[in-house]
Amino acid sequence: MRPGSFKLERFFAQYEFSAPHLMCCSDCESLSIGELMALEPGTEQKMHDLWLGYTESQGGIKLREEIATLFNTLNVDQILVHSGAEEAIFSFMNAILNPGDHVIVQFPAYQSLYELPYTLGCEVSKWELKPGQHGWDLNLDELEKCLKVNTRAIIINSPHNPTGYSLSQEKLERIIEIARDNNIIILADEVYKYLEYDQTKRTPWVADLYENAVSLGVMSKSLGLPGLRIGWIGTKNPQIYAAMASFKDYTSICNSAPSEYLARIALKNRGRILKRNLQIIENNLALLDAFFKKYNELFDWYRPDAGPIAFPAFKTTRDADDICEDLVNKKGVLILPASCYDYDTCHFRVGFGRKNFSQSLEKFDDYIVENLL
Ligand SMILES: Cc1ncc(COP(=O)(O)O)c(C=O)c1O
Repeated sequence: MRPGSFKLERFFAQYEFSAPHLMCCSDCESLSIGELMALEPGTEQKMHDLWLGYTESQGGIKLREEIATLFNTLNVDQILVHSGAEEAIFSFMNAILNPGDHVIVQFPAYQSLYELPYTLGCEVSKWELKPGQHGWDLNLDELEKCLKVNTRAIIINSPHNPTGYSLSQEKLERIIEIARDNNIIILADEVYKYLEYDQTKRTPWVADLYENAVSLGVMSKSLGLPGLRIGWIGTKNPQIYAAMASFKDYTSICNSAPSEYLARIALKNRGRILKRNLQIIENNLALLDAFFKKYNELFDWYRPDAGPIAFPAFKTTRDADDICEDLVNKKGVLILPASCYDYDTCHFRVGFGRKNFSQSLEKFDDYIVENLL
């Protein structure tokens, strides 16, 4: 079976390069190649001399060395580089899952995390995040109720797209315990790691904690460099590694050499890039807090724990789809309706990782005054 249309990506394809005020992007403010290379003296000559032959299929050794420094216990041979996180998701699903397997997926979710298992003939149970007193939350009893004898994988995403919810160490350890007891693989989509507002609450990569986990990371989100199309998985399980490496021969084979080089420079200088991105997020989040306080009658606001996105809800009777379309047509402001997540008709995703966020928010405010009050 072919996967159904990727609603979120199709929505972006329609508006991303035409709407002037993108207020739902899931990444942080990007950098130009010049800005990135300025972080490290001597890179221009090295980029100039770079050989444009095929690269190592598992990712260049120097890049893998840099990625391995992110983990506490993984070595370079346990890192497999991919073209973005999306290729790694596609590879994991195809290389590891079989028709008839049962898969539990945290929900709402980035569509490929549940659509691909479904397409491959797996049975998919959605483990739902629910809004509670202190924002979004996951109930572990509900995870246990989802378990079946044929459960092959639990797919989690923390920090989470679209809610910004982050699993606590305690909950993560319990999920691992459940997986270990039942011989279940964990795919942990950790593409928003390092954007926790309270850095003391950041958990280790799941692959550091569990021998049957695959941790997924990428340059796109926290570092704001999606144009590089460089992502990676880390796993201690040699069979999973080999199966994914072998599958990759049928997708990208190897990665772009300039992208691998630039990703290495960015990772070496991640401290500075992350600090800048967190500062942008912090400033914009303060604006959002004030905005939702002012319009408390119109919205439900669930403050995220991490990352540049959140998933508030309209309290009006009008559909979020309808409002989103009207908003982009009248004011050029793009927010993402929850229907893109197969979710409901009142939530929407807002993105606040960009420097020009305050201008977009002002336009949204104008729209509210003119149309929703
Ligand atoms: C949770 C999650 N996983 C994976 C991806 C795919 O990342 P990339 O575009 O870098 O392939 C995204 C992109 O939005 C995402 O939000």
